[in-house]
Amino acid sequence: MSYLKTAADFYATVAQEPEVGLCCVQDESLQLPDLIIPPVMNAMNYGCGTTVQASELEDAPTVLYVGVGGGLEALQFAYFCRRSGAVIAVDPVAEMRQAALRNLEEAATMNSWFQPEFVQVREGDAFALPMDDESVDVVAQNCLFNIFQPDDLHRALKEAYRVLKPQGRLLMSDPIATSPIPDHLRQDERLRAMCLSGALTYEEYLEQIQAVGFGRIEIRSRRPYRTLDRQTYHLDADLLLESLDSIALKVPCPATGVLIIPLESTQESPAAGKGCC
Ligand SMILES: C[S@@+](CC[C@H](N)C(=O)[O-])C[C@H]1O[C@@H](n2cnc3c(N)ncnc32)[C@H](O)[C@@H]1O
Repeated sequence: MSYLKTAADFYATVAQEPEVGLCCVQDESLQLPDLIIPPVMNAMNYGCGTTVQASELEDAPTVLYVGVGGGLEALQFAYFCRRSGAVIAVDPVAEMRQAALRNLEEAATMNSWFQPEFVQVREGDAFALPMDDESVDVVAQNCLFNIFQPDDLHRALKEAYRVLKPQGRLLMSDPIATSPIPDHLRQDERLRAMCLSGALTYEEYLEQIQAVGFGRIEIRSRRPYRTLDRQTYHLDADLLLESLDSIALKVPCPATGVLIIPLESTQESPAAGKGCC
């Protein structure tokens, strides 16, 4: 069985039996005025940071959300883009799509501003997005791409790039590893599905984004996420995973190289020696 099938089976299970803390649940989700989140949606928060960056949503963009989970971030995006079909959320796991649809219906009973048709939940895969070229303003994914092996990550990033309009934004949140994760953990398909062993280092992660052509990358948040302790995971030393929130822009690559805007930095620094592909 491929690791992608293991991941799909894992998410089919946690779609039907949400368990707080089972996967990559963070303690609290983004709070917004007049947004009430159904408890089941919070219980199914399988993200590691947030991709809902208010400053990127002022023009009520069309958002493609990849890997819908329980629908929490799709609802949060809809908060900013209140119109029918503004958010298209895809997931290959039928049980997850059904859970998200139920949760969004419940959200509509609790939020007078929200109509379920603001979010279209569709069958879809990160490697074959059901969208035309250059058709969306924003692509978002939270805690999914880290599951992918490097070649598959490249394919998924290329797909996101393909469907984005020029100037479009890729909003991502993923765990990154503060030192390389050893092979015995990388090969553990269940840990990978749980977002615990697929993480790349910061440098590797940025290289992957640059490699598909994004001309500018902004880091929005970098926080401690989980520690893989040496005893449980048979490591020489504890290994810290961080949660990284980033934005990649589909803009031409400057002649000096991809612009990487580090956290809380106003300085724009070209990535040393890295060109766009
Ligand atoms: C870690 S969960 C994150 C869910 C959601 N983004 C959140 O923050 O709660 C990963 C999600 O991606 C979905 N998924 C798994 N494989 C996928 C694939 N190949 N393409 C798109 N989504 C996938 C899972 O069903 C699940 O909904």
